[in-house]
Amino acid sequence: MDELLNYSLKENALTSFVEWFEKAETVEQNAFAMAVSTYDHEKNRPNTRYLLYKGISDNKIVFYTNYLSPKAKDLSDNPEIALAFYWHVSKKQVRIHGRVSKMSHEDSTSYFHSRDRESQIASYLSHQSEPISDKAALLLKYNETVEKFEGKPIPLPENWGGFLVEPYEYEFFLYGDNRLNDRFLYQLKNQKWEVSRLQP
Ligand SMILES: Cc1cc2nc3c(=O)[nH]c(=O)nc-3n(C[C@H](O)[C@H](O)[C@H](O)COP(=O)(O)O)c2cc1C
Repeated sequence: MDELLNYSLKENALTSFVEWFEKAETVEQNAFAMAVSTYDHEKNRPNTRYLLYKGISDNKIVFYTNYLSPKAKDLSDNPEIALAFYWHVSKKQVRIHGRVSKMSHEDSTSYFHSRDRESQIASYLSHQSEPISDKAALLLKYNETVEKFEGKPIPLPENWGGFLVEPYEYEFFLYGDNRLNDRFLYQLKNQKWEVSRLQP
């Protein structure tokens, strides 16, 4: 579609996403916040939370989290995931559907050690989303972990690492005048992206 050019969109969905993201990064306060939806089979309901978008690896979208967290449990039951970015200043939204796989242990390890030490300690000690009595108990765990690893590297926790999202559908949305928003749907069909314009 020739008009894609007017919206700096390319025939390849990932290229389009990266270009929109790189532009957003220059003007948004936090372009990295990504809403992530999974499906909780036990409670029979969807579940959404924000995570940090950590870039692209092998054409896949990367995020890091606790592998024993509720989101990771949802994803091991069902690898279908939905992501959404909202960039206020840019007046843009991107929605993505894909399937996840776990990142290799080596890649998770090298990312983990690139983080600042405080973040490594926090990931090490946290049983993410499990209850804890109070903040003092959390600080105690923090101080114990600091002491335990004094002068030593923090090992990658077994229950922590990256996920890779392989997208098969993107929607690029740009606010238009008179609520005539511009929306382009990319769908991967036979390894080619098909693009259609959607009504607002
Ligand atoms: C802007 C923002 C970014 C966040 N980034 C991450 C992240 O990269 N990884 C993560 O595990 N939690 C992140 N969190 C916390 C999650 O939103 C969530 O509280 C946590 O992962 C537990 O989710 P779960 O119980 O659904 O598994 C972030 C929160 C906010 C507000």
